[in-house]
Amino acid sequence: MNIYKFCFTMLWASSVLGAAGAAAQAVLPLCQSCHQADGSGNAALQAPALAGQQQDYLLRQLQHFQSGLRGAHPQDTTGAQMRAALPTNLSTDELTALAGHFARLPLPAKTTTQPADPVQVDKGRRIYINSCGACHGAKAEGVAALKAPSLHQLDAAYLSRQLEYFRTGVRGNDKTDKPGRQMAMMARTLPGEQEITQVIAYIRSLP
Ligand code: HEC
Ligand code: HEC
Repeated sequence: MNIYKFCFTMLWASSVLGAAGAAAQAVLPLCQSCHQADGSGNAALQAPALAGQQQDYLLRQLQHFQSGLRGAHPQDTTGAQMRAALPTNLSTDELTALAGHFARLPLPAKTTTQPADPVQVDKGRRIYINSCGACHGAKAEGVAALKAPSLHQLDAAYLSRQLEYFRTGVRGNDKTDKPGRQMAMMARTLPGEQEITQVIAYIRSLP
């Protein structure tokens, strides 16, 4: 390769990444209007924390919102809000840049509004160890190799809603959505609302 060709190739590569970065930068304020600048989420808008989450997981969700694998179910009102907010013309490179931006932010500090009931937490611990920890990790930090996201930073209302969505086929119901189907199967092992509350109490109690 001669020097001119080399320079041209390098320029081309940096302009592709640069362009994706610039487009991502342009939509970032929109994302931040719901998910906050530090990526800690906004419970009042039902927008979950994104900071510190695995980049691959965030990218997969953005692609699913874009394709309608997530957020298109008639009962998925919060997913529909997210779908409507996501510009439809963003490329994979641009979505990757957005996912990378939030993944690189430090995990938000946990905020709890009320002290957890130790009995509930203990029941939740047993459920978590038996049914969740193998994929999501002992500290709910997530296991990227299993495509299982971190749960650590997510607020109780979001966790509860997603478990309900998985249980009722609102999320993770499509044949092509393997990780979603896997999780939906696990969510259906939770007998009811009480167990959901307990396992969330445990996740929220983790340091
Ligand atoms: C109007 C408010 C709003 C805006 C603007 C918005 N979101 Fe969201 N986002 C939400 C809500 C609400 C959810 C939760 C959906 C649900 O309950 O399933 C969500 C969920 C997500 C998720 C899934 C998180 C997870 O843990 O599975 C990702 C990723 C995400 N948003 C990224 C973005 C990005 C990137 C942008 C900017 C392009 C953006 N959002 C703009 C409201 C918004
Ligand atoms: C077999 C592995 C596996 C087990 C066991 C498992 N999960 Fe998951 N979980 C996943 C995968 C994979 C995803 C990502 C789904 C996707 O990409 O849409 C996920 C996603 C989730 C989400 C959505 C997170 C978000 O940001 O939207 C929640 C909440 C969750 N799991 C909670 C649990 C709880 C609670 C248990 C125990 C009852 C559990 N999981 C057991 C694999 C598992």
